[in-house]
Amino acid sequence: MEIVILKNADAVAKKGAQLLTELIRQKSNAILGLATGRTPIALYEQLIGIYRTGEISFAEVSTFNLDEYLGIDEDDDQSYRAFMNAAFFDHIDIDIRNTYMPFCKEGENPRTFGLGFENEILCHGGIDLQILGIGGNGHIGFNEPASSLKSRTRVKALTQRTLQDNKHLFDENEHQPRLAMTMGIATILDARKIILLATGSGKAEAVQKMVEGPLSSMCPASALQLHQHVSILLDEKAAAKLQNQEYYLWVYEQNETLRKQFGSFYNI
Ligand code: F6R
Repeated sequence: MEIVILKNADAVAKKGAQLLTELIRQKSNAILGLATGRTPIALYEQLIGIYRTGEISFAEVSTFNLDEYLGIDEDDDQSYRAFMNAAFFDHIDIDIRNTYMPFCKEGENPRTFGLGFENEILCHGGIDLQILGIGGNGHIGFNEPASSLKSRTRVKALTQRTLQDNKHLFDENEHQPRLAMTMGIATILDARKIILLATGSGKAEAVQKMVEGPLSSMCPASALQLHQHVSILLDEKAAAKLQNQEYYLWVYEQNETLRKQFGSFYNI
Protein backbone atom coordinates (compact mmCIF):
# COMPACT_ATOMS: atom_id res chain seq x y z
CA MET A 1 0.00 0.00 0.00
CA GLU A 2 1.24 3.43 -0.80
CA ILE A 3 -0.14 5.97 1.66
CA VAL A 4 -0.27 9.49 0.25
CA ILE A 5 -1.11 12.17 2.81
CA LEU A 6 -2.12 15.48 1.26
CA LYS A 7 -3.10 18.84 2.71
CA ASN A 8 -6.83 18.83 1.96
CA ALA A 9 -9.69 17.28 -0.02
CA ASP A 10 -8.92 19.45 -3.04
CA ALA A 11 -5.36 18.09 -3.21
CA VAL A 12 -6.72 14.53 -2.94
CA ALA A 13 -9.06 15.10 -5.90
CA LYS A 14 -6.23 16.65 -7.95
CA LYS A 15 -3.85 13.79 -7.23
CA GLY A 16 -6.52 11.21 -8.12
CA ALA A 17 -7.26 13.07 -11.37
CA GLN A 18 -3.56 13.21 -12.20
CA LEU A 19 -3.21 9.42 -11.80
CA LEU A 20 -6.31 8.73 -13.89
CA THR A 21 -5.16 11.16 -16.58
CA GLU A 22 -1.77 9.42 -16.79
CA LEU A 23 -3.55 6.09 -17.29
CA ILE A 24 -5.91 7.37 -20.01
CA ARG A 25 -3.03 9.03 -21.87
CA GLN A 26 -1.16 5.74 -21.78
CA LYS A 27 -4.19 3.60 -22.64
CA SER A 28 -7.00 5.43 -24.43
CA ASN A 29 -9.35 2.43 -24.11
CA ALA A 30 -8.74 1.98 -20.37
CA ILE A 31 -11.30 0.08 -18.29
CA LEU A 32 -12.15 2.07 -15.18
CA GLY A 33 -13.89 0.94 -12.02
CA LEU A 34 -15.84 3.85 -10.53
CA ALA A 35 -17.46 4.77 -7.23
CA THR A 36 -20.34 7.01 -6.22
CA GLY A 37 -20.70 8.95 -2.96
CA ARG A 38 -19.54 12.32 -1.70
CA THR A 39 -15.80 11.70 -1.91
CA PRO A 40 -15.25 11.18 -5.66
CA ILE A 41 -17.42 14.15 -6.74
CA ALA A 42 -14.39 16.51 -6.59
CA LEU A 43 -12.34 13.95 -8.54
CA TYR A 44 -14.98 13.83 -11.29
CA GLU A 45 -15.03 17.64 -11.39
CA GLN A 46 -11.26 17.69 -11.85
CA LEU A 47 -11.46 15.11 -14.65
CA ILE A 48 -14.21 17.06 -16.42
CA GLY A 49 -11.95 20.13 -16.25
CA ILE A 50 -9.01 18.21 -17.73
CA TYR A 51 -11.26 16.74 -20.44
CA ARG A 52 -12.38 20.28 -21.37
CA THR A 53 -8.78 21.35 -21.95
CA GLY A 54 -8.57 18.60 -24.59
CA GLU A 55 -5.80 16.75 -22.72
CA ILE A 56 -7.79 13.52 -22.47
CA SER A 57 -10.75 11.88 -24.15
CA PHE A 58 -13.07 9.22 -22.76
CA ALA A 59 -14.36 8.22 -26.20
CA GLU A 60 -12.75 4.77 -26.00
CA VAL A 61 -12.96 4.32 -22.23
CA SER A 62 -15.33 1.81 -20.58
CA THR A 63 -16.44 2.01 -16.96
CA PHE A 64 -17.86 -0.39 -14.39
CA ASN A 65 -19.43 1.01 -11.26
CA LEU A 66 -19.03 -0.68 -7.92
CA ASP A 67 -22.62 -0.73 -6.81
CA GLU A 68 -26.25 0.12 -7.43
CA TYR A 69 -29.30 0.02 -5.20
CA LEU A 70 -31.64 -2.90 -5.64
CA GLY A 71 -35.33 -2.22 -6.04
CA ILE A 72 -35.20 1.26 -7.55
CA ASP A 73 -35.30 1.98 -11.23
CA GLU A 74 -32.31 3.27 -13.18
CA ASP A 75 -34.40 6.35 -14.10
CA ASP A 76 -34.98 7.14 -10.44
CA ASP A 77 -33.17 10.29 -9.25
CA GLN A 78 -31.75 8.29 -6.35
CA SER A 79 -30.18 5.60 -8.53
CA TYR A 80 -26.42 5.50 -8.82
CA ARG A 81 -26.91 5.61 -12.59
CA ALA A 82 -28.54 9.05 -12.17
CA PHE A 83 -25.68 10.09 -9.87
CA MET A 84 -22.98 9.01 -12.33
CA ASN A 85 -24.69 10.66 -15.31
CA ALA A 86 -25.12 13.95 -13.46
CA ALA A 87 -21.70 13.99 -11.76
CA PHE A 88 -19.58 12.71 -14.62
CA PHE A 89 -20.86 10.95 -17.75
CA ASP A 90 -23.07 13.81 -19.00
CA HIS A 91 -20.05 16.13 -19.07
CA ILE A 92 -17.52 14.03 -20.98
CA ASP A 93 -17.37 12.33 -24.39
CA ILE A 94 -17.85 8.80 -23.07
CA ASP A 95 -20.21 6.51 -25.00
CA ILE A 96 -22.94 5.86 -22.43
CA ARG A 97 -23.27 2.28 -23.75
CA ASN A 98 -19.78 1.66 -22.38
CA THR A 99 -20.76 2.66 -18.84
CA TYR A 100 -21.85 -0.41 -16.89
CA MET A 101 -23.79 -0.22 -13.63
CA PRO A 102 -24.66 -3.33 -11.60
CA PHE A 103 -28.34 -2.55 -12.16
CA CYS A 104 -30.43 -5.67 -11.60
CA LYS A 105 -33.92 -5.14 -13.01
CA GLU A 106 -37.04 -5.94 -11.01
CA GLY A 107 -37.76 -9.67 -11.36
CA GLU A 108 -34.26 -10.52 -12.60
CA ASN A 109 -32.44 -13.15 -10.55
CA PRO A 110 -29.67 -11.23 -8.71
CA ARG A 111 -27.43 -14.30 -8.72
CA THR A 112 -27.61 -14.62 -12.50
CA PHE A 113 -27.15 -10.87 -12.80
CA GLY A 114 -24.03 -10.96 -10.59
CA LEU A 115 -22.46 -13.70 -12.70
CA GLY A 116 -23.25 -11.75 -15.88
CA PHE A 117 -21.68 -8.56 -14.50
CA GLU A 118 -18.49 -10.41 -13.54
CA ASN A 119 -18.43 -11.94 -17.00
CA GLU A 120 -18.81 -8.55 -18.67
CA ILE A 121 -15.77 -7.28 -16.75
CA LEU A 122 -13.79 -10.33 -17.86
CA CYS A 123 -14.88 -9.90 -21.49
CA HIS A 124 -13.46 -6.35 -21.35
CA GLY A 125 -10.13 -7.75 -20.18
CA GLY A 126 -10.53 -6.77 -16.51
CA ILE A 127 -10.43 -3.42 -14.73
CA ASP A 128 -7.25 -1.38 -15.21
CA LEU A 129 -7.90 1.08 -12.42
CA GLN A 130 -10.50 0.88 -9.67
CA ILE A 131 -11.51 4.04 -7.76
CA LEU A 132 -12.79 3.46 -4.23
CA GLY A 133 -14.14 5.44 -1.31
CA ILE A 134 -14.40 3.98 2.18
CA GLY A 135 -17.39 3.82 4.49
CA GLY A 136 -17.15 4.99 8.09
CA ASN A 137 -17.47 1.29 8.99
CA GLY A 138 -14.65 0.25 6.64
CA HIS A 139 -16.82 -0.90 3.75
CA ILE A 140 -15.62 -0.75 0.15
CA GLY A 141 -18.32 -0.87 -2.50
CA PHE A 142 -21.21 -2.06 -0.37
CA ASN A 143 -19.17 -4.89 1.13
CA GLU A 144 -20.24 -4.34 4.70
CA PRO A 145 -18.32 -5.71 7.72
CA ALA A 146 -18.27 -9.54 7.77
CA SER A 147 -18.44 -9.70 3.96
CA SER A 148 -16.47 -12.61 2.57
CA LEU A 149 -13.01 -11.57 1.47
CA LYS A 150 -13.57 -13.83 -1.55
CA SER A 151 -16.95 -12.34 -2.45
CA ARG A 152 -18.05 -11.53 -6.00
CA THR A 153 -20.83 -9.33 -7.37
CA ARG A 154 -23.98 -10.07 -5.38
CA VAL A 155 -26.71 -8.53 -3.22
CA LYS A 156 -25.76 -7.13 0.18
CA ALA A 157 -28.04 -5.88 2.93
CA LEU A 158 -26.83 -2.49 4.13
CA THR A 159 -25.94 -2.01 7.79
CA GLN A 160 -27.79 0.44 10.03
CA ARG A 161 -24.59 2.54 10.09
CA THR A 162 -24.51 2.85 6.28
CA LEU A 163 -28.24 3.58 6.11
CA GLN A 164 -27.75 6.28 8.73
CA ASP A 165 -24.69 7.74 6.96
CA ASN A 166 -26.65 8.05 3.69
CA LYS A 167 -29.98 9.11 5.17
CA HIS A 168 -29.39 12.82 4.47
CA LEU A 169 -29.53 12.03 0.72
CA PHE A 170 -33.19 11.02 0.92
CA ASP A 171 -36.24 13.19 1.58
CA GLU A 172 -38.36 12.24 4.54
CA ASN A 173 -41.04 10.54 2.42
CA GLU A 174 -38.59 9.03 -0.01
CA HIS A 175 -37.91 5.29 0.00
CA GLN A 176 -34.31 4.52 1.08
CA PRO A 177 -33.26 1.14 -0.33
CA ARG A 178 -31.76 -1.31 2.15
CA LEU A 179 -30.33 -3.69 -0.40
CA ALA A 180 -27.69 -3.10 -3.05
CA MET A 181 -25.94 -5.03 -5.77
CA THR A 182 -22.20 -4.63 -5.27
CA MET A 183 -18.94 -5.88 -6.71
CA GLY A 184 -17.41 -8.29 -4.21
CA ILE A 185 -14.09 -7.91 -2.45
CA ALA A 186 -12.48 -10.47 -4.78
CA THR A 187 -13.88 -8.54 -7.77
CA ILE A 188 -12.26 -5.35 -6.48
CA LEU A 189 -8.95 -7.09 -5.79
CA ASP A 190 -8.84 -8.32 -9.41
CA ALA A 191 -8.31 -4.73 -10.63
CA ARG A 192 -4.77 -4.13 -11.84
CA LYS A 193 -4.44 -0.90 -9.85
CA ILE A 194 -6.59 0.54 -7.05
CA ILE A 195 -6.88 4.10 -5.79
CA LEU A 196 -8.84 4.69 -2.59
CA LEU A 197 -9.77 8.26 -1.66
CA ALA A 198 -10.72 9.29 1.87
CA THR A 199 -11.28 12.79 3.18
CA GLY A 200 -12.54 14.23 6.46
CA SER A 201 -12.27 13.20 10.08
CA GLY A 202 -15.28 10.86 9.80
CA LYS A 203 -13.04 8.44 7.89
CA ALA A 204 -10.01 8.57 10.22
CA GLU A 205 -10.86 5.48 12.27
CA ALA A 206 -11.75 3.32 9.27
CA VAL A 207 -8.56 4.46 7.49
CA GLN A 208 -6.42 3.51 10.50
CA LYS A 209 -7.99 0.04 10.63
CA MET A 210 -7.64 -0.45 6.87
CA VAL A 211 -3.94 0.45 6.82
CA GLU A 212 -2.59 -0.56 10.21
CA GLY A 213 -5.18 -2.98 11.56
CA PRO A 214 -5.26 -6.73 11.01
CA LEU A 215 -6.63 -8.21 7.79
CA SER A 216 -10.22 -8.83 8.78
CA SER A 217 -13.62 -9.09 7.15
CA MET A 218 -14.79 -6.80 9.98
CA CYS A 219 -12.93 -4.02 8.15
CA PRO A 220 -13.51 -4.99 4.50
CA ALA A 221 -11.09 -2.29 3.27
CA SER A 222 -8.25 -4.10 5.09
CA ALA A 223 -8.46 -6.64 2.22
CA LEU A 224 -6.58 -4.02 0.16
CA GLN A 225 -3.48 -5.07 2.14
CA LEU A 226 -3.48 -8.11 -0.17
CA HIS A 227 -3.21 -6.03 -3.35
CA GLN A 228 0.13 -5.18 -4.91
CA HIS A 229 -0.73 -1.79 -6.42
CA VAL A 230 -2.91 0.29 -4.10
CA SER A 231 -2.60 4.02 -3.55
CA ILE A 232 -4.47 5.43 -0.57
CA LEU A 233 -5.01 9.17 -1.09
CA LEU A 234 -5.85 10.91 2.19
CA ASP A 235 -6.30 14.43 3.41
CA GLU A 236 -4.76 15.30 6.77
CA LYS A 237 -8.05 14.79 8.60
CA ALA A 238 -8.62 11.29 7.26
CA ALA A 239 -4.96 10.43 8.02
CA ALA A 240 -5.09 11.81 11.57
CA LYS A 241 -5.29 8.44 13.37
CA LEU A 242 -2.51 6.71 11.46
CA GLN A 243 0.37 5.77 13.80
CA ASN A 244 3.15 5.88 11.21
CA GLN A 245 2.39 9.08 9.34
CA GLU A 246 6.00 10.26 9.17
CA TYR A 247 7.14 6.98 7.71
CA TYR A 248 4.41 7.06 5.01
CA LEU A 249 5.39 10.60 4.02
CA TRP A 250 9.02 9.59 3.76
CA VAL A 251 8.21 6.47 1.69
CA TYR A 252 6.08 8.55 -0.67
CA GLU A 253 8.94 11.00 -1.21
CA GLN A 254 11.31 8.13 -2.03
CA ASN A 255 8.77 6.57 -4.41
CA GLU A 256 8.26 9.87 -6.21
CA THR A 257 12.02 10.12 -6.75
CA LEU A 258 12.13 6.55 -8.09
CA ARG A 259 9.13 7.19 -10.36
CA LYS A 260 10.78 10.28 -11.82
CA GLN A 261 13.81 8.16 -12.66
CA PHE A 262 12.18 4.88 -13.75
CA GLY A 263 8.47 5.59 -14.37
CA SER A 264 5.48 3.90 -12.78
CA PHE A 265 5.90 0.71 -10.72
CA TYR A 266 3.23 -1.24 -12.53
CA ASN A 267 2.37 -2.17 -16.09
CA ILE A 268 -1.13 -2.03 -17.48
C1 F6R B 1 -20.04 4.05 -3.48
C2 F6R B 1 -19.37 3.09 -2.61
C3 F6R B 1 -19.19 3.32 -1.16
C4 F6R B 1 -18.65 4.71 -0.84
C5 F6R B 1 -18.51 4.90 0.67
C6 F6R B 1 -18.05 6.28 1.02
O1 F6R B 1 -20.08 3.57 -4.80
O2 F6R B 1 -18.99 2.08 -3.11
O3 F6R B 1 -18.31 2.35 -0.65
O4 F6R B 1 -17.42 4.87 -1.46
O5 F6R B 1 -19.73 4.64 1.28
O6 F6R B 1 -19.04 7.19 0.66
P1 F6R B 1 -18.80 8.77 0.75
O7 F6R B 1 -17.78 9.09 -0.27
O8 F6R B 1 -20.14 9.35 0.44
O9 F6R B 1 -18.34 9.04 2.13
